[in-house]
Amino acid sequence: MEYDIKNAELAPGGRLRIDWASTEMPVLKGVKERFHDDRPFAGMRVSACMHVTTETANLMVALQQGGADVVLAASNPLSTQDDVAAALVAHYEIPVYAIKGEDVETYHKHINAVLDHQPHIIMDDGCDLVSTLHKNRRDAKSNIIGGTEETTTGIIRLRAMAKDGALEFPMMAVNDAMTKHLFDNRYGTGQSTMDGVIRATNYLIAGKNVVVAGYGWCSRGIAMRARGLGGNVIVTEIDPLKALEAVMDGFRVMPMIEAAPIGDIFVSATGNINVFDTHHFAVMKNGALLANSGHFDVEINIRGLTKMAVEQPKRVRPFVDQYVMADGRRLNVLGEGRLINLAAAEGHPASVMDMSFANQALAARYLIDNQGKLENKVYSVPEEIDQEIARIKLAAMDIQVDVLTTEQDKYLNSWEEGTV
Ligand code: ADE
Repeated sequence: MEYDIKNAELAPGGRLRIDWASTEMPVLKGVKERFHDDRPFAGMRVSACMHVTTETANLMVALQQGGADVVLAASNPLSTQDDVAAALVAHYEIPVYAIKGEDVETYHKHINAVLDHQPHIIMDDGCDLVSTLHKNRRDAKSNIIGGTEETTTGIIRLRAMAKDGALEFPMMAVNDAMTKHLFDNRYGTGQSTMDGVIRATNYLIAGKNVVVAGYGWCSRGIAMRARGLGGNVIVTEIDPLKALEAVMDGFRVMPMIEAAPIGDIFVSATGNINVFDTHHFAVMKNGALLANSGHFDVEINIRGLTKMAVEQPKRVRPFVDQYVMADGRRLNVLGEGRLINLAAAEGHPASVMDMSFANQALAARYLIDNQGKLENKVYSVPEEIDQEIARIKLAAMDIQVDVLTTEQDKYLNSWEEGTV
Protein backbone atom coordinates (compact mmCIF):
# COMPACT_ATOMS: atom_id res chain seq x y z
CA MET A 1 0.00 0.00 0.00
CA GLU A 2 1.35 3.46 -0.92
CA TYR A 3 0.96 6.46 1.40
CA ASP A 4 2.88 9.50 2.61
CA ILE A 5 2.70 10.31 6.30
CA LYS A 6 5.07 11.74 8.88
CA ASN A 7 5.68 8.87 11.26
CA ALA A 8 4.06 5.42 11.37
CA GLU A 9 5.02 5.01 15.04
CA LEU A 10 2.41 7.60 16.02
CA ALA A 11 -0.38 5.15 15.09
CA PRO A 12 -1.33 3.79 18.57
CA GLY A 13 -1.89 7.29 19.99
CA GLY A 14 -3.86 8.26 16.89
CA ARG A 15 -6.09 5.25 17.25
CA LEU A 16 -6.90 6.10 20.86
CA ARG A 17 -7.84 9.63 19.84
CA ILE A 18 -9.99 8.40 16.92
CA ASP A 19 -11.87 6.13 19.35
CA TRP A 20 -12.25 9.01 21.82
CA ALA A 21 -13.83 11.22 19.13
CA SER A 22 -16.15 8.39 18.06
CA THR A 23 -17.87 8.48 21.45
CA GLU A 24 -19.09 11.99 20.59
CA MET A 25 -20.29 10.98 17.12
CA PRO A 26 -23.46 8.94 17.65
CA VAL A 27 -25.16 10.01 14.41
CA LEU A 28 -22.20 8.97 12.29
CA LYS A 29 -22.03 5.72 14.28
CA GLY A 30 -25.64 4.93 13.30
CA VAL A 31 -24.84 5.72 9.66
CA LYS A 32 -21.77 3.48 9.84
CA GLU A 33 -23.84 0.59 11.18
CA ARG A 34 -26.38 1.02 8.40
CA PHE A 35 -23.58 1.17 5.82
CA HIS A 36 -22.12 -2.02 7.28
CA ASP A 37 -25.42 -3.82 6.64
CA ASP A 38 -26.26 -2.26 3.24
CA ARG A 39 -22.74 -1.93 1.69
CA PRO A 40 -23.85 1.00 -0.57
CA PHE A 41 -20.28 1.68 -1.70
CA ALA A 42 -19.28 -1.87 -2.59
CA GLY A 43 -16.82 -1.72 -5.49
CA MET A 44 -16.60 2.10 -5.29
CA ARG A 45 -13.41 4.12 -4.89
CA VAL A 46 -13.67 7.30 -2.81
CA SER A 47 -10.96 10.00 -2.97
CA ALA A 48 -11.18 12.52 -0.15
CA CYS A 49 -9.37 15.81 0.40
CA MET A 50 -10.21 16.83 3.95
CA HIS A 51 -8.57 17.94 7.17
CA VAL A 52 -6.93 14.80 8.56
CA THR A 53 -8.42 14.80 12.06
CA THR A 54 -9.93 12.25 14.42
CA GLU A 55 -13.39 13.20 13.15
CA THR A 56 -12.45 12.76 9.50
CA ALA A 57 -10.96 9.39 10.42
CA ASN A 58 -14.34 8.28 11.74
CA LEU A 59 -15.97 9.39 8.48
CA MET A 60 -13.41 7.45 6.42
CA VAL A 61 -14.04 4.33 8.51
CA ALA A 62 -17.82 4.69 8.06
CA LEU A 63 -17.35 4.80 4.27
CA GLN A 64 -15.02 1.83 4.44
CA GLN A 65 -17.66 -0.10 6.41
CA GLY A 66 -20.03 0.69 3.54
CA GLY A 67 -17.69 -1.12 1.16
CA ALA A 68 -15.73 1.87 -0.17
CA ASP A 69 -12.08 1.74 -1.08
CA VAL A 70 -11.01 5.06 0.47
CA VAL A 71 -7.92 7.27 0.10
CA LEU A 72 -7.36 10.56 1.88
CA ALA A 73 -5.25 13.68 1.29
CA ALA A 74 -5.00 16.80 3.46
CA SER A 75 -7.14 19.80 2.54
CA ASN A 76 -4.69 22.22 4.15
CA PRO A 77 -0.90 22.01 4.58
CA LEU A 78 -1.11 22.77 8.31
CA SER A 79 -4.24 20.95 9.52
CA THR A 80 -3.07 17.32 9.53
CA GLN A 81 -2.92 15.39 12.79
CA ASP A 82 0.05 13.13 12.08
CA ASP A 83 -0.97 10.49 14.64
CA VAL A 84 -4.37 10.16 12.96
CA ALA A 85 -2.76 9.81 9.53
CA ALA A 86 -0.55 7.03 10.94
CA ALA A 87 -3.49 5.24 12.60
CA LEU A 88 -5.58 5.30 9.42
CA VAL A 89 -2.73 3.63 7.55
CA ALA A 90 -1.76 1.11 10.25
CA HIS A 91 -5.11 0.14 11.75
CA TYR A 92 -7.61 0.72 8.97
CA GLU A 93 -5.44 0.19 5.88
CA ILE A 94 -6.59 3.52 4.46
CA PRO A 95 -3.86 5.19 2.37
CA VAL A 96 -3.24 8.73 3.61
CA TYR A 97 -1.20 11.45 1.91
CA ALA A 98 -0.79 14.18 4.51
CA ILE A 99 1.98 15.60 6.68
CA LYS A 100 1.48 18.53 9.04
CA GLY A 101 3.57 21.46 7.76
CA GLU A 102 4.00 20.05 4.24
CA ASP A 103 5.02 22.63 1.64
CA VAL A 104 2.60 23.71 -1.08
CA GLU A 105 4.30 21.51 -3.68
CA THR A 106 3.85 18.42 -1.49
CA TYR A 107 0.26 19.44 -0.77
CA HIS A 108 -0.50 19.37 -4.52
CA LYS A 109 1.47 16.15 -4.97
CA HIS A 110 -0.78 14.58 -2.32
CA ILE A 111 -3.94 15.79 -4.06
CA ASN A 112 -2.68 14.24 -7.27
CA ALA A 113 -1.94 10.98 -5.46
CA VAL A 114 -5.57 10.57 -4.40
CA LEU A 115 -6.68 11.35 -7.95
CA ASP A 116 -4.45 8.51 -9.20
CA HIS A 117 -6.97 6.31 -7.37
CA GLN A 118 -9.45 6.94 -10.26
CA PRO A 119 -12.35 7.71 -7.91
CA HIS A 120 -16.07 7.11 -8.32
CA ILE A 121 -16.85 9.60 -5.54
CA ILE A 122 -14.95 12.77 -4.56
CA MET A 123 -15.11 14.25 -1.06
CA ASP A 124 -13.72 17.76 -0.97
CA ASP A 125 -13.19 20.51 1.58
CA GLY A 126 -12.35 23.79 -0.14
CA CYS A 127 -12.70 22.55 -3.76
CA ASP A 128 -8.97 22.02 -4.45
CA LEU A 129 -9.54 18.37 -5.40
CA VAL A 130 -12.41 19.17 -7.77
CA SER A 131 -10.61 22.11 -9.34
CA THR A 132 -7.35 20.13 -9.82
CA LEU A 133 -9.36 17.36 -11.42
CA HIS A 134 -11.09 19.73 -13.84
CA LYS A 135 -7.96 21.75 -14.65
CA ASN A 136 -5.04 19.32 -14.68
CA ARG A 137 -6.19 15.76 -14.10
CA ARG A 138 -8.92 15.07 -16.61
CA ASP A 139 -7.60 11.52 -16.82
CA ALA A 140 -9.10 10.94 -13.33
CA LYS A 141 -12.62 11.88 -14.40
CA SER A 142 -13.85 8.83 -16.24
CA ASN A 143 -15.43 6.93 -13.32
CA ILE A 144 -16.83 9.87 -11.38
CA ILE A 145 -20.44 9.68 -10.26
CA GLY A 146 -20.28 12.90 -8.25
CA GLY A 147 -18.84 14.54 -5.19
CA THR A 148 -19.53 16.28 -1.91
CA GLU A 149 -18.17 19.62 -0.68
CA GLU A 150 -17.84 20.58 2.96
CA THR A 151 -17.23 24.34 3.17
CA THR A 152 -18.77 27.69 2.32
CA THR A 153 -15.60 28.62 0.40
CA GLY A 154 -15.65 25.40 -1.64
CA ILE A 155 -19.32 25.83 -2.50
CA ILE A 156 -18.70 29.40 -3.72
CA ARG A 157 -16.02 28.01 -6.07
CA LEU A 158 -18.33 25.20 -7.22
CA ARG A 159 -21.22 27.55 -7.93
CA ALA A 160 -18.85 29.70 -10.01
CA MET A 161 -17.84 26.56 -11.96
CA ALA A 162 -21.48 25.54 -12.46
CA LYS A 163 -22.38 29.07 -13.63
CA ASP A 164 -19.60 28.93 -16.22
CA GLY A 165 -20.84 25.51 -17.38
CA ALA A 166 -17.45 24.12 -16.29
CA LEU A 167 -18.65 21.60 -13.68
CA GLU A 168 -18.59 18.13 -15.17
CA PHE A 169 -20.37 16.07 -12.49
CA PRO A 170 -22.95 16.68 -9.74
CA MET A 171 -21.71 18.03 -6.42
CA MET A 172 -23.57 17.96 -3.10
CA ALA A 173 -23.23 21.16 -1.04
CA VAL A 174 -22.94 19.71 2.45
CA ASN A 175 -22.48 23.17 3.96
CA ASP A 176 -26.02 24.11 2.86
CA ALA A 177 -27.53 21.59 5.28
CA MET A 178 -28.92 23.25 8.43
CA THR A 179 -27.42 20.48 10.55
CA LYS A 180 -24.04 21.50 9.10
CA HIS A 181 -23.70 25.28 9.00
CA LEU A 182 -25.87 26.18 11.99
CA PHE A 183 -23.74 24.01 14.27
CA ASP A 184 -20.32 23.29 12.72
CA ASN A 185 -19.77 26.81 11.35
CA ARG A 186 -21.15 28.60 14.41
CA TYR A 187 -20.40 26.49 17.49
CA GLY A 188 -17.53 24.52 15.97
CA THR A 189 -15.63 27.45 14.50
CA GLY A 190 -16.49 29.65 17.48
CA GLN A 191 -15.04 27.32 20.08
CA SER A 192 -12.13 25.90 18.11
CA THR A 193 -10.95 29.30 16.88
CA MET A 194 -10.72 30.69 20.37
CA ASP A 195 -9.10 27.39 21.41
CA GLY A 196 -6.49 27.89 18.65
CA VAL A 197 -5.77 31.50 19.65
CA ILE A 198 -5.41 30.49 23.28
CA ARG A 199 -3.26 27.40 22.64
CA ALA A 200 -0.96 29.42 20.36
CA THR A 201 -0.53 32.35 22.76
CA ASN A 202 -1.81 31.45 26.24
CA TYR A 203 -3.35 34.96 26.22
CA LEU A 204 -6.11 36.01 28.57
CA ILE A 205 -9.08 37.05 26.48
CA ALA A 206 -10.92 38.88 29.28
CA GLY A 207 -10.59 42.63 28.87
CA LYS A 208 -9.05 42.41 25.38
CA ASN A 209 -10.52 44.17 22.35
CA VAL A 210 -11.27 41.32 19.97
CA VAL A 211 -11.95 42.40 16.39
CA VAL A 212 -13.92 39.81 14.42
CA ALA A 213 -14.03 40.34 10.66
CA GLY A 214 -17.33 39.25 9.12
CA TYR A 215 -20.63 38.20 10.64
CA GLY A 216 -21.44 35.01 8.76
CA TRP A 217 -22.08 31.82 10.71
CA CYS A 218 -18.40 31.25 11.48
CA SER A 219 -17.70 34.81 12.58
CA ARG A 220 -20.89 34.85 14.68
CA GLY A 221 -19.60 31.85 16.55
CA ILE A 222 -16.21 33.47 17.08
CA ALA A 223 -17.78 36.75 18.28
CA MET A 224 -20.09 34.85 20.65
CA ARG A 225 -17.30 32.79 22.19
CA ALA A 226 -14.85 35.71 22.41
CA ARG A 227 -17.51 37.63 24.31
CA GLY A 228 -18.12 34.61 26.53
CA LEU A 229 -14.44 34.68 27.48
CA GLY A 230 -14.73 38.33 28.52
CA GLY A 231 -13.47 39.99 25.35
CA ASN A 232 -14.81 43.36 24.20
CA VAL A 233 -15.87 42.30 20.75
CA ILE A 234 -15.92 44.59 17.71
CA VAL A 235 -17.43 43.27 14.47
CA THR A 236 -16.59 44.54 10.97
CA GLU A 237 -18.87 43.81 8.01
CA ILE A 238 -19.57 44.80 4.41
CA ASP A 239 -23.18 43.52 4.39
CA PRO A 240 -25.69 45.96 5.98
CA LEU A 241 -28.06 43.19 7.14
CA LYS A 242 -25.33 41.23 8.85
CA ALA A 243 -23.92 44.44 10.34
CA LEU A 244 -27.37 45.26 11.72
CA GLU A 245 -27.67 41.80 13.23
CA ALA A 246 -24.28 42.22 14.88
CA VAL A 247 -25.37 45.59 16.31
CA MET A 248 -28.59 44.10 17.71
CA ASP A 249 -26.67 41.14 19.08
CA GLY A 250 -24.90 43.78 21.16
CA PHE A 251 -21.56 44.11 19.34
CA ARG A 252 -19.83 47.34 18.34
CA VAL A 253 -19.66 47.59 14.55
CA MET A 254 -17.23 49.84 12.69
CA PRO A 255 -14.97 49.85 9.62
CA MET A 256 -11.73 47.89 9.92
CA ILE A 257 -9.61 51.03 9.67
CA GLU A 258 -11.28 52.32 12.87
CA ALA A 259 -10.98 48.97 14.63
CA ALA A 260 -7.33 48.54 13.63
CA PRO A 261 -5.77 50.94 16.18
CA ILE A 262 -7.89 49.67 19.11
CA GLY A 263 -7.87 45.90 18.59
CA ASP A 264 -5.70 43.56 20.64
CA ILE A 265 -6.74 40.35 18.86
CA PHE A 266 -7.90 40.24 15.23
CA VAL A 267 -9.69 37.20 13.81
CA SER A 268 -10.95 36.94 10.25
CA ALA A 269 -13.45 34.44 8.85
CA THR A 270 -14.82 36.18 5.76
CA GLY A 271 -13.56 33.99 2.89
CA ASN A 272 -12.10 37.10 1.25
CA ILE A 273 -8.58 38.39 0.61
CA ASN A 274 -6.55 41.02 2.47
CA VAL A 275 -9.14 41.63 5.16
CA PHE A 276 -6.22 42.70 7.36
CA ASP A 277 -4.13 44.80 4.99
CA THR A 278 -1.07 47.06 5.02
CA HIS A 279 -2.99 50.25 5.90
CA HIS A 280 -4.41 48.39 8.91
CA PHE A 281 -0.96 47.06 9.96
CA ALA A 282 0.33 50.64 9.82
CA VAL A 283 -1.95 51.68 12.71
CA MET A 284 -2.23 48.49 14.81
CA LYS A 285 -1.06 48.41 18.41
CA ASN A 286 2.25 46.95 19.47
CA GLY A 287 1.68 43.27 20.32
CA ALA A 288 -1.52 42.81 18.29
CA LEU A 289 -2.41 39.22 17.39
CA LEU A 290 -3.62 38.38 13.88
CA ALA A 291 -5.42 35.13 13.19
CA ASN A 292 -7.38 33.65 10.32
CA SER A 293 -10.19 31.12 10.58
CA GLY A 294 -11.28 31.23 6.94
CA HIS A 295 -10.53 28.28 4.65
CA PHE A 296 -7.62 29.85 2.71
CA ASP A 297 -4.58 31.71 4.01
CA VAL A 298 -5.50 34.87 2.09
CA GLU A 299 -7.29 36.94 4.71
CA ILE A 300 -4.14 38.42 6.27
CA ASN A 301 -1.90 40.18 3.74
CA ILE A 302 1.24 38.41 4.93
CA ARG A 303 3.21 39.36 1.84
CA GLY A 304 2.48 43.05 2.52
CA LEU A 305 3.30 42.62 6.19
CA THR A 306 6.60 40.93 5.32
CA LYS A 307 7.52 43.90 3.11
CA MET A 308 6.67 46.35 5.90
CA ALA A 309 8.76 44.44 8.46
CA VAL A 310 12.34 45.58 9.05
CA GLU A 311 13.60 42.05 9.60
CA GLN A 312 12.61 38.46 8.85
CA PRO A 313 9.68 37.31 11.04
CA LYS A 314 10.79 35.54 14.20
CA ARG A 315 9.01 32.41 15.47
CA VAL A 316 8.59 33.38 19.11
CA ARG A 317 6.41 30.38 20.02
CA PRO A 318 5.03 27.50 17.96
CA PHE A 319 2.36 29.03 15.70
CA VAL A 320 3.38 32.64 16.49
CA ASP A 321 5.47 34.63 13.97
CA GLN A 322 6.49 38.13 15.05
CA TYR A 323 6.93 40.93 12.51
CA VAL A 324 8.79 44.07 13.63
CA MET A 325 7.66 47.36 12.06
CA ALA A 326 9.96 50.34 11.34
CA ASP A 327 8.64 52.17 14.43
CA GLY A 328 9.41 49.17 16.65
CA ARG A 329 5.84 47.79 16.94
CA ARG A 330 5.60 44.01 16.90
CA LEU A 331 2.67 42.32 15.15
CA ASN A 332 2.09 38.62 15.73
CA VAL A 333 0.66 36.36 13.03
CA LEU A 334 -0.77 33.09 14.33
CA GLY A 335 -0.53 29.77 12.48
CA GLU A 336 1.11 31.34 9.39
CA GLY A 337 -2.29 32.84 8.58
CA ARG A 338 -3.77 29.39 7.99
CA LEU A 339 -6.95 28.20 9.75
CA ILE A 340 -5.96 28.80 13.35
CA ASN A 341 -8.44 26.28 14.77
CA LEU A 342 -6.82 23.41 12.88
CA ALA A 343 -3.24 24.73 12.86
CA ALA A 344 -2.86 25.40 16.59
CA ALA A 345 -5.80 23.41 18.02
CA GLU A 346 -7.66 20.26 16.94
CA GLY A 347 -10.40 21.73 14.74
CA HIS A 348 -14.07 21.57 15.59
CA PRO A 349 -15.04 19.19 18.36
CA ALA A 350 -16.39 15.77 17.39
CA SER A 351 -19.91 16.52 18.59
CA VAL A 352 -20.54 19.04 15.79
CA MET A 353 -18.49 17.17 13.17
CA ASP A 354 -20.84 14.27 13.94
CA MET A 355 -23.66 16.05 12.09
CA SER A 356 -21.43 17.50 9.35
CA PHE A 357 -19.99 14.11 8.56
CA ALA A 358 -23.31 12.26 8.79
CA ASN A 359 -24.36 14.74 6.07
CA GLN A 360 -21.20 13.94 4.09
CA ALA A 361 -21.80 10.19 4.33
CA LEU A 362 -25.49 10.38 3.47
CA ALA A 363 -24.85 12.86 0.64
CA ALA A 364 -22.34 10.40 -0.87
CA ARG A 365 -24.92 7.65 -0.60
CA TYR A 366 -27.50 9.92 -2.24
CA LEU A 367 -25.15 10.30 -5.22
CA ILE A 368 -24.92 6.52 -5.58
CA ASP A 369 -28.68 6.00 -5.13
CA ASN A 370 -29.41 8.68 -7.77
CA GLN A 371 -26.63 7.78 -10.18
CA GLY A 372 -27.54 8.84 -13.74
CA LYS A 373 -30.44 11.02 -12.56
CA LEU A 374 -28.49 14.12 -11.47
CA GLU A 375 -27.24 16.97 -13.65
CA ASN A 376 -23.81 18.61 -13.49
CA LYS A 377 -25.01 21.06 -10.86
CA VAL A 378 -24.53 21.91 -7.21
CA TYR A 379 -27.24 20.18 -5.14
CA SER A 380 -28.30 20.86 -1.56
CA VAL A 381 -28.55 17.92 0.81
CA PRO A 382 -32.23 16.82 0.75
CA GLU A 383 -34.27 18.23 3.62
CA GLU A 384 -35.30 14.72 4.79
CA ILE A 385 -31.64 13.90 5.45
CA ASP A 386 -31.17 17.16 7.37
CA GLN A 387 -34.29 16.53 9.49
CA GLU A 388 -33.31 12.94 10.15
CA ILE A 389 -29.85 13.96 11.35
CA ALA A 390 -31.38 16.52 13.74
CA ARG A 391 -33.82 13.91 15.07
CA ILE A 392 -31.09 11.31 15.66
CA LYS A 393 -28.79 13.88 17.29
CA LEU A 394 -31.53 14.94 19.72
CA ALA A 395 -32.33 11.30 20.52
CA ALA A 396 -28.64 10.62 21.17
CA MET A 397 -28.62 13.58 23.56
CA ASP A 398 -31.70 12.06 25.25
CA ILE A 399 -33.77 15.14 24.46
CA GLN A 400 -37.42 14.70 23.54
CA VAL A 401 -39.52 17.28 21.70
CA ASP A 402 -43.27 17.81 21.47
CA VAL A 403 -45.40 16.70 18.55
CA LEU A 404 -48.32 18.70 17.16
CA THR A 405 -51.74 17.67 18.41
CA THR A 406 -54.30 16.86 15.69
CA GLU A 407 -56.01 20.13 16.55
CA GLN A 408 -52.77 22.12 16.17
CA ASP A 409 -51.91 20.39 12.92
CA LYS A 410 -55.35 21.24 11.54
CA TYR A 411 -54.99 24.86 12.70
CA LEU A 412 -51.63 25.29 10.97
CA ASN A 413 -53.00 23.86 7.75
CA SER A 414 -56.18 25.94 7.59
CA TRP A 415 -56.57 29.39 6.10
CA GLU A 416 -60.05 30.13 7.49
CA GLU A 417 -58.88 30.63 11.09
CA GLY A 418 -58.10 34.19 12.21
CA THR A 419 -59.21 36.71 14.87
CA VAL A 420 -61.79 35.14 17.22
N1 ADE B 1 -13.03 21.35 9.90
C1 ADE B 1 -13.07 22.01 11.07
N2 ADE B 1 -12.86 21.18 12.09
C2 ADE B 1 -12.69 19.94 11.57
C3 ADE B 1 -12.44 18.68 12.14
N3 ADE B 1 -12.35 18.50 13.45
N4 ADE B 1 -12.32 17.64 11.30
C4 ADE B 1 -12.41 17.83 9.97
N5 ADE B 1 -12.65 18.99 9.38
C5 ADE B 1 -12.79 20.05 10.18
